[in-house]
Amino acid sequence: MTKKSILITGGAGFIGSHVVRLFVQKYPDYHIFNLDKLTYAGNLKNLTDIEQAPNYTFIKADLVDALAIESLFQKHQFEGVIHLAAESHVDRSITNPMDFVMTNVVGTVNLLNAAKNAWKADFNNKLFYHVSTDEVYGSLHDGGFFLETTPYDPQSPYSASKASSDHFVRAYHNTYKIPVVISNCSNNYGPNQFPEKLIPLFINNIRNNKPLPVYGKGENVRDWLYVVDHARAIDMVYHKGKNGETYNIGGFNEWTNIDLIKVVCKTMDVKLGRTPGTSEQLITYVTDRAGHDLRYAIDAQKIMRELGWEPSLQFEEGIEKTIDWYLTNQQWMDEVTSGDYANYYDNLYGNR
Ligand code: NAD
Ligand code: DAU
Repeated sequence: MTKKSILITGGAGFIGSHVVRLFVQKYPDYHIFNLDKLTYAGNLKNLTDIEQAPNYTFIKADLVDALAIESLFQKHQFEGVIHLAAESHVDRSITNPMDFVMTNVVGTVNLLNAAKNAWKADFNNKLFYHVSTDEVYGSLHDGGFFLETTPYDPQSPYSASKASSDHFVRAYHNTYKIPVVISNCSNNYGPNQFPEKLIPLFINNIRNNKPLPVYGKGENVRDWLYVVDHARAIDMVYHKGKNGETYNIGGFNEWTNIDLIKVVCKTMDVKLGRTPGTSEQLITYVTDRAGHDLRYAIDAQKIMRELGWEPSLQFEEGIEKTIDWYLTNQQWMDEVTSGDYANYYDNLYGNR
Protein backbone atom coordinates (compact mmCIF):
# COMPACT_ATOMS: atom_id res chain seq x y z
CA MET A 1 0.00 0.00 0.00
CA THR A 2 1.30 3.49 -0.85
CA LYS A 3 1.78 5.62 2.20
CA LYS A 4 -0.02 8.95 2.43
CA SER A 5 2.60 11.66 1.80
CA ILE A 6 2.50 14.71 4.03
CA LEU A 7 4.75 17.73 3.63
CA ILE A 8 5.66 19.51 6.86
CA THR A 9 7.54 22.79 6.34
CA GLY A 10 9.87 24.23 8.98
CA GLY A 11 10.24 20.82 10.62
CA ALA A 12 13.81 21.51 11.76
CA GLY A 13 12.65 24.47 13.86
CA PHE A 14 11.24 24.57 17.36
CA ILE A 15 7.54 23.71 16.93
CA GLY A 16 8.02 21.96 13.59
CA SER A 17 10.41 19.39 15.10
CA HIS A 18 7.81 18.42 17.71
CA VAL A 19 5.14 18.13 15.01
CA VAL A 20 7.40 16.01 12.77
CA ARG A 21 8.25 13.68 15.68
CA LEU A 22 4.58 13.26 16.64
CA PHE A 23 3.50 12.47 13.07
CA VAL A 24 6.42 10.13 12.28
CA GLN A 25 5.88 8.14 15.47
CA LYS A 26 2.06 8.16 15.59
CA TYR A 27 1.34 7.53 11.89
CA PRO A 28 3.55 4.77 10.43
CA ASP A 29 1.19 4.71 7.41
CA TYR A 30 2.12 8.27 6.50
CA HIS A 31 5.36 9.29 4.87
CA ILE A 32 6.49 12.56 6.41
CA PHE A 33 8.58 14.90 4.26
CA ASN A 34 10.23 17.64 6.30
CA LEU A 35 11.09 20.65 4.09
CA ASP A 36 13.37 23.19 5.70
CA LYS A 37 15.88 25.80 4.51
CA LEU A 38 17.92 25.34 7.70
CA THR A 39 18.23 29.02 8.54
CA TYR A 40 19.93 29.96 11.81
CA ALA A 41 16.73 28.66 13.50
CA GLY A 42 16.62 25.27 11.78
CA ASN A 43 18.58 22.52 13.47
CA LEU A 44 18.46 18.89 12.34
CA LYS A 45 19.84 17.85 15.72
CA ASN A 46 16.31 18.48 16.98
CA LEU A 47 15.30 15.28 15.16
CA THR A 48 18.17 12.82 15.68
CA ASP A 49 15.84 10.33 17.42
CA ILE A 50 13.62 9.90 14.33
CA GLU A 51 15.94 10.70 11.42
CA GLN A 52 16.40 7.00 10.54
CA ALA A 53 12.66 6.21 10.62
CA PRO A 54 11.50 4.51 7.39
CA ASN A 55 8.57 6.91 7.02
CA TYR A 56 10.68 10.11 7.26
CA THR A 57 12.56 12.12 4.62
CA PHE A 58 14.31 15.47 5.01
CA ILE A 59 14.37 17.91 2.07
CA LYS A 60 16.58 21.00 2.21
CA ALA A 61 14.79 23.72 0.21
CA ASP A 62 13.87 27.38 0.35
CA LEU A 63 10.18 28.24 0.07
CA VAL A 64 11.11 31.41 -1.79
CA ASP A 65 12.35 29.24 -4.68
CA ALA A 66 9.04 28.73 -6.51
CA LEU A 67 10.39 26.34 -9.16
CA ALA A 68 11.98 24.05 -6.57
CA ILE A 69 8.72 23.91 -4.61
CA GLU A 70 6.64 23.18 -7.75
CA SER A 71 8.94 20.33 -8.75
CA LEU A 72 8.82 18.78 -5.26
CA PHE A 73 5.03 18.59 -5.50
CA GLN A 74 5.29 16.87 -8.88
CA LYS A 75 7.87 14.41 -7.58
CA HIS A 76 6.27 13.41 -4.29
CA GLN A 77 2.47 13.68 -4.77
CA PHE A 78 1.90 15.26 -1.36
CA GLU A 79 -1.69 14.90 -0.16
CA GLY A 80 -1.37 17.19 2.80
CA VAL A 81 0.71 20.20 3.80
CA ILE A 82 1.34 21.42 7.34
CA HIS A 83 3.04 24.77 6.89
CA LEU A 84 5.14 25.97 9.81
CA ALA A 85 8.25 27.38 8.11
CA ALA A 86 8.62 31.06 8.87
CA GLU A 87 10.86 33.77 10.13
CA SER A 88 9.48 33.77 13.66
CA HIS A 89 11.28 36.30 15.88
CA VAL A 90 9.69 39.73 16.40
CA ASP A 91 13.00 41.49 17.21
CA ARG A 92 14.57 40.27 13.97
CA SER A 93 11.51 41.51 12.04
CA ILE A 94 12.16 45.00 13.41
CA THR A 95 15.77 45.04 12.16
CA ASN A 96 15.19 43.10 8.91
CA PRO A 97 11.54 43.13 7.79
CA MET A 98 12.25 42.04 4.20
CA ASP A 99 13.34 38.53 5.30
CA PHE A 100 9.85 38.20 6.81
CA VAL A 101 8.13 39.39 3.64
CA MET A 102 10.10 36.91 1.56
CA THR A 103 9.67 33.76 3.66
CA ASN A 104 6.35 34.39 5.38
CA VAL A 105 4.46 36.04 2.51
CA VAL A 106 6.19 35.07 -0.76
CA GLY A 107 7.14 31.62 0.58
CA THR A 108 3.55 30.91 1.65
CA VAL A 109 2.14 32.03 -1.71
CA ASN A 110 4.70 29.83 -3.52
CA LEU A 111 3.56 26.88 -1.43
CA LEU A 112 -0.12 27.66 -2.08
CA ASN A 113 0.55 27.86 -5.84
CA ALA A 114 2.39 24.56 -5.87
CA ALA A 115 -0.41 22.85 -3.90
CA LYS A 116 -3.13 24.38 -6.09
CA ASN A 117 -1.38 23.33 -9.31
CA ALA A 118 -0.74 19.79 -8.08
CA TRP A 119 -4.23 19.30 -6.62
CA LYS A 120 -6.60 21.29 -8.86
CA ALA A 121 -7.81 18.27 -10.87
CA ASP A 122 -9.12 16.74 -7.66
CA PHE A 123 -9.15 18.48 -4.29
CA ASN A 124 -10.64 15.41 -2.55
CA ASN A 125 -8.58 14.22 0.44
CA LYS A 126 -6.17 17.15 0.10
CA LEU A 127 -5.51 19.70 2.83
CA PHE A 128 -3.35 22.80 3.19
CA TYR A 129 -2.90 23.52 6.92
CA HIS A 130 -1.40 26.91 7.71
CA VAL A 131 0.08 27.34 11.20
CA SER A 132 -0.17 30.91 12.39
CA THR A 133 0.05 33.09 15.47
CA ASP A 134 -2.17 35.03 17.85
CA GLU A 135 -0.07 38.13 17.08
CA VAL A 136 -2.16 38.75 13.94
CA TYR A 137 -4.95 40.02 16.22
CA GLY A 138 -2.79 42.84 17.61
CA SER A 139 -2.52 43.88 21.24
CA LEU A 140 -5.14 43.62 24.01
CA HIS A 141 -5.37 46.58 26.37
CA ASP A 142 -8.66 46.32 28.27
CA GLY A 143 -9.20 42.69 29.17
CA GLY A 144 -10.95 40.25 26.86
CA PHE A 145 -9.57 37.49 24.66
CA PHE A 146 -8.74 36.89 21.02
CA LEU A 147 -11.53 34.93 19.31
CA GLU A 148 -11.42 33.43 15.81
CA THR A 149 -13.67 36.35 14.80
CA THR A 150 -11.44 39.10 16.24
CA PRO A 151 -10.47 41.52 13.43
CA TYR A 152 -6.83 41.39 12.35
CA ASP A 153 -4.69 44.27 13.64
CA PRO A 154 -1.01 43.24 13.34
CA GLN A 155 1.46 45.64 14.94
CA SER A 156 4.96 44.35 14.10
CA PRO A 157 6.58 43.47 10.76
CA TYR A 158 6.50 39.82 11.92
CA SER A 159 2.79 39.82 12.71
CA ALA A 160 2.00 41.83 9.55
CA SER A 161 3.77 39.18 7.48
CA LYS A 162 1.92 36.35 9.25
CA ALA A 163 -1.42 38.19 8.86
CA SER A 164 -0.69 38.61 5.16
CA SER A 165 0.04 34.90 4.79
CA ASP A 166 -3.24 34.05 6.60
CA HIS A 167 -5.12 36.32 4.18
CA PHE A 168 -3.52 34.60 1.17
CA VAL A 169 -4.51 31.17 2.52
CA ARG A 170 -8.14 32.29 2.91
CA ALA A 171 -8.07 33.99 -0.51
CA TYR A 172 -6.85 30.76 -2.17
CA HIS A 173 -9.60 28.83 -0.40
CA ASN A 174 -12.25 31.31 -1.56
CA THR A 175 -10.95 31.77 -5.10
CA TYR A 176 -9.55 28.37 -6.09
CA LYS A 177 -11.45 26.17 -3.58
CA ILE A 178 -8.24 24.70 -2.20
CA PRO A 179 -9.12 22.94 1.11
CA VAL A 180 -7.50 24.79 4.02
CA VAL A 181 -7.44 25.05 7.79
CA ILE A 182 -5.65 27.72 9.83
CA SER A 183 -4.73 27.79 13.49
CA ASN A 184 -3.53 30.77 15.51
CA CYS A 185 -1.58 29.87 18.63
CA SER A 186 -0.23 31.75 21.63
CA ASN A 187 3.39 31.73 22.88
CA ASN A 188 4.99 28.28 22.97
CA TYR A 189 7.70 27.12 25.37
CA GLY A 190 9.57 23.84 25.78
CA PRO A 191 12.60 21.90 24.53
CA ASN A 192 14.45 22.89 21.34
CA GLN A 193 13.43 26.56 21.23
CA PHE A 194 16.11 28.80 19.78
CA PRO A 195 17.63 30.89 22.60
CA GLU A 196 16.68 34.24 21.12
CA LYS A 197 13.19 33.75 22.60
CA LEU A 198 12.53 34.80 26.20
CA ILE A 199 12.49 31.49 28.12
CA PRO A 200 15.52 29.64 26.64
CA LEU A 201 17.49 32.92 26.47
CA PHE A 202 16.95 33.55 30.16
CA ILE A 203 17.65 29.93 31.18
CA ASN A 204 20.95 30.09 29.31
CA ASN A 205 21.87 33.51 30.72
CA ILE A 206 21.16 32.37 34.27
CA ARG A 207 23.33 29.32 33.74
CA ASN A 208 26.14 31.59 32.51
CA ASN A 209 25.56 34.35 35.10
CA LYS A 210 24.73 36.87 32.38
CA PRO A 211 22.24 39.77 32.71
CA LEU A 212 18.56 39.03 32.02
CA PRO A 213 17.42 41.84 29.65
CA VAL A 214 13.78 42.60 30.56
CA TYR A 215 12.17 44.90 27.98
CA GLY A 216 10.50 48.01 29.43
CA LYS A 217 8.98 47.33 32.85
CA GLY A 218 8.33 43.63 32.27
CA GLU A 219 4.56 44.30 32.38
CA ASN A 220 3.70 42.78 29.01
CA VAL A 221 1.48 39.71 29.20
CA ARG A 222 1.84 36.52 27.18
CA ASP A 223 -0.27 33.32 27.21
CA TRP A 224 2.12 30.34 27.41
CA LEU A 225 1.51 26.84 26.02
CA TYR A 226 3.82 23.81 26.23
CA VAL A 227 5.02 23.01 22.71
CA VAL A 228 3.96 19.35 22.79
CA ASP A 229 0.40 20.47 23.52
CA HIS A 230 0.56 22.72 20.44
CA ALA A 231 1.78 19.73 18.39
CA ARG A 232 -1.16 17.65 19.73
CA ALA A 233 -3.54 20.44 18.74
CA ILE A 234 -2.02 20.55 15.24
CA ASP A 235 -2.59 16.79 14.94
CA MET A 236 -6.27 17.26 15.87
CA VAL A 237 -6.83 20.25 13.58
CA TYR A 238 -5.16 18.41 10.68
CA HIS A 239 -7.33 15.32 11.13
CA LYS A 240 -10.60 16.71 12.49
CA GLY A 241 -10.65 20.41 11.56
CA LYS A 242 -13.37 21.58 9.16
CA ASN A 243 -12.41 22.81 5.69
CA GLY A 244 -12.11 26.62 5.64
CA GLU A 245 -12.16 26.98 9.44
CA THR A 246 -9.82 28.73 11.86
CA TYR A 247 -8.96 27.42 15.34
CA ASN A 248 -7.36 29.47 18.10
CA ILE A 249 -4.97 27.51 20.34
CA GLY A 250 -3.84 28.65 23.79
CA GLY A 251 -3.39 27.49 27.34
CA PHE A 252 -5.50 30.04 29.29
CA ASN A 253 -2.18 30.66 31.00
CA GLU A 254 -1.35 34.37 31.16
CA TRP A 255 1.78 35.72 32.81
CA THR A 256 3.37 39.14 32.96
CA ASN A 257 6.94 38.80 31.75
CA ILE A 258 8.38 39.79 35.10
CA ASP A 259 6.32 37.23 37.06
CA LEU A 260 7.27 34.51 34.57
CA ILE A 261 10.95 35.48 34.78
CA LYS A 262 10.80 35.26 38.59
CA VAL A 263 9.45 31.69 38.35
CA VAL A 264 12.31 30.78 35.98
CA CYS A 265 14.83 32.42 38.35
CA LYS A 266 13.49 30.59 41.44
CA THR A 267 13.43 27.22 39.67
CA MET A 268 16.95 27.74 38.31
CA ASP A 269 18.26 28.59 41.82
CA VAL A 270 16.89 25.24 43.05
CA LYS A 271 18.18 23.25 40.05
CA LEU A 272 21.65 24.82 40.18
CA GLY A 273 21.89 24.62 43.97
CA ARG A 274 22.25 28.39 44.29
CA THR A 275 21.12 30.50 47.26
CA PRO A 276 17.47 31.60 46.78
CA GLY A 277 17.39 35.06 45.12
CA THR A 278 20.72 34.67 43.28
CA SER A 279 19.28 34.53 39.76
CA GLU A 280 16.83 37.41 40.30
CA GLN A 281 19.84 39.67 40.85
CA LEU A 282 20.64 39.22 37.14
CA ILE A 283 17.39 40.98 36.10
CA THR A 284 18.28 44.13 34.12
CA TYR A 285 15.62 46.46 32.73
CA VAL A 286 16.52 47.55 29.19
CA THR A 287 15.01 49.75 26.46
CA ASP A 288 11.62 48.43 25.41
CA ARG A 289 11.03 46.59 22.13
CA ALA A 290 9.75 49.07 19.50
CA GLY A 291 5.95 48.84 19.22
CA HIS A 292 5.87 46.17 21.95
CA ASP A 293 2.40 44.53 22.10
CA LEU A 294 1.04 44.79 25.65
CA ARG A 295 -1.03 41.63 26.00
CA TYR A 296 -2.00 38.51 24.08
CA ALA A 297 -4.67 36.13 25.39
CA ILE A 298 -6.35 33.37 23.42
CA ASP A 299 -9.88 32.10 23.88
CA ALA A 300 -9.37 28.42 22.96
CA GLN A 301 -12.95 27.27 23.61
CA LYS A 302 -13.70 26.49 19.95
CA ILE A 303 -10.93 23.87 19.57
CA MET A 304 -11.78 22.46 23.01
CA ARG A 305 -15.51 22.22 22.26
CA GLU A 306 -15.40 21.12 18.61
CA LEU A 307 -12.25 18.97 18.46
CA GLY A 308 -11.92 17.86 22.08
CA TRP A 309 -8.42 19.30 22.53
CA GLU A 310 -7.13 20.48 25.88
CA PRO A 311 -3.62 21.16 27.22
CA SER A 312 -2.13 18.11 28.94
CA LEU A 313 0.38 19.94 31.13
CA GLN A 314 -0.05 22.54 33.84
CA PHE A 315 2.43 25.40 33.56
CA GLU A 316 4.31 24.50 36.77
CA GLU A 317 5.05 21.03 35.40
CA GLY A 318 5.82 22.31 31.88
CA ILE A 319 8.31 24.94 32.99
CA GLU A 320 10.13 22.46 35.23
CA LYS A 321 10.36 19.93 32.38
CA THR A 322 11.61 22.70 30.09
CA ILE A 323 14.32 23.87 32.48
CA ASP A 324 15.41 20.26 33.07
CA TRP A 325 15.67 19.74 29.30
CA TYR A 326 17.92 22.77 28.76
CA LEU A 327 20.12 21.85 31.72
CA THR A 328 20.59 18.26 30.54
CA ASN A 329 21.12 19.34 26.91
CA GLN A 330 23.80 21.95 27.45
CA GLN A 331 25.67 20.76 24.37
CA TRP A 332 22.62 21.59 22.21
CA MET A 333 22.56 25.06 23.72
CA ASP A 334 26.31 25.60 23.34
CA GLU A 335 26.17 24.60 19.68
CA VAL A 336 23.33 26.92 18.74
CA THR A 337 24.76 29.84 20.68
CA SER A 338 28.11 29.77 18.85
CA GLY A 339 28.99 31.40 15.51
CA ASP A 340 26.42 33.57 13.76
CA TYR A 341 24.10 33.58 16.69
CA ALA A 342 26.75 35.17 18.90
CA ASN A 343 27.15 38.06 16.42
CA TYR A 344 23.40 38.51 16.25
CA TYR A 345 23.25 38.56 20.03
CA ASP A 346 25.96 41.24 20.28
CA ASN A 347 24.21 43.44 17.69
CA LEU A 348 20.92 43.25 19.55
CA TYR A 349 22.06 43.57 23.14
CA GLY A 350 25.54 45.12 22.84
CA ASN A 351 24.25 48.71 23.32
CA ARG A 352 21.65 48.01 25.99
P1 NAD B 1 11.45 28.63 14.33
O1 NAD B 1 12.03 29.95 13.98
O2 NAD B 1 11.97 27.88 15.49
O3 NAD B 1 11.54 27.64 13.07
C1 NAD B 1 11.25 28.07 11.77
C2 NAD B 1 11.79 27.03 10.79
O4 NAD B 1 11.47 27.48 9.45
C3 NAD B 1 13.30 26.84 10.86
O5 NAD B 1 13.62 25.47 10.89
C4 NAD B 1 13.80 27.50 9.58
O6 NAD B 1 14.99 26.92 9.08
C5 NAD B 1 12.62 27.29 8.64
N1 NAD B 1 12.60 28.29 7.55
C6 NAD B 1 12.72 29.63 7.68
N2 NAD B 1 12.68 30.22 6.46
C7 NAD B 1 12.50 29.23 5.55
C8 NAD B 1 12.37 29.20 4.13
N3 NAD B 1 12.44 30.33 3.40
N4 NAD B 1 12.19 28.01 3.53
C9 NAD B 1 12.13 26.86 4.25
N5 NAD B 1 12.27 26.82 5.60
C10 NAD B 1 12.45 27.99 6.25
O7 NAD B 1 9.88 28.90 14.47
P2 NAD B 1 8.82 28.29 15.49
O8 NAD B 1 8.84 29.07 16.73
O9 NAD B 1 8.98 26.83 15.54
O10 NAD B 1 7.45 28.64 14.72
C11 NAD B 1 6.93 27.76 13.74
C12 NAD B 1 5.64 28.35 13.19
O11 NAD B 1 4.70 28.50 14.23
C13 NAD B 1 5.81 29.73 12.56
O12 NAD B 1 4.98 29.80 11.41
C14 NAD B 1 5.33 30.69 13.64
O13 NAD B 1 4.81 31.86 13.06
C15 NAD B 1 4.25 29.87 14.30
N6 NAD B 1 4.01 30.14 15.72
C16 NAD B 1 5.05 30.18 16.61
C17 NAD B 1 4.78 30.40 17.97
C18 NAD B 1 5.88 30.40 19.01
O14 NAD B 1 5.62 30.73 20.17
N7 NAD B 1 7.11 30.06 18.68
C19 NAD B 1 3.46 30.60 18.39
C20 NAD B 1 2.44 30.57 17.44
C21 NAD B 1 2.72 30.34 16.11
O1 DAU C 1 2.33 34.88 20.51
C1 DAU C 1 2.93 33.98 19.62
C2 DAU C 1 4.33 34.48 19.26
O2 DAU C 1 5.13 34.30 20.41
C3 DAU C 1 4.91 33.76 18.06
O3 DAU C 1 4.14 34.03 16.93
C4 DAU C 1 6.36 34.22 17.83
O4 DAU C 1 6.93 33.47 16.76
C5 DAU C 1 7.15 33.99 19.09
O5 DAU C 1 8.45 34.48 18.93
C6 DAU C 1 6.48 34.68 20.28
O6 DAU C 1 6.59 36.11 20.16
P1 DAU C 1 6.97 37.05 21.42
O7 DAU C 1 7.52 38.32 20.89
O8 DAU C 1 5.86 37.13 22.39
O9 DAU C 1 8.14 36.11 22.08
P2 DAU C 1 9.56 36.47 22.74
O10 DAU C 1 10.04 35.23 23.38
O11 DAU C 1 10.44 37.18 21.78
O12 DAU C 1 9.17 37.51 23.87
C7 DAU C 1 8.25 37.17 24.91
C8 DAU C 1 8.07 38.41 25.76
O13 DAU C 1 9.30 38.67 26.47
C9 DAU C 1 7.77 39.67 24.97
O14 DAU C 1 6.88 40.49 25.69
C10 DAU C 1 9.13 40.37 24.86
C11 DAU C 1 9.82 39.97 26.15
N1 DAU C 1 11.30 39.85 26.06
C12 DAU C 1 11.80 39.07 25.08
C13 DAU C 1 13.17 38.91 24.94
C14 DAU C 1 13.74 38.05 23.82
C15 DAU C 1 12.12 40.48 26.99
O15 DAU C 1 11.63 41.18 27.90
N2 DAU C 1 13.47 40.34 26.85
C16 DAU C 1 14.04 39.59 25.86
O16 DAU C 1 15.30 39.50 25.79
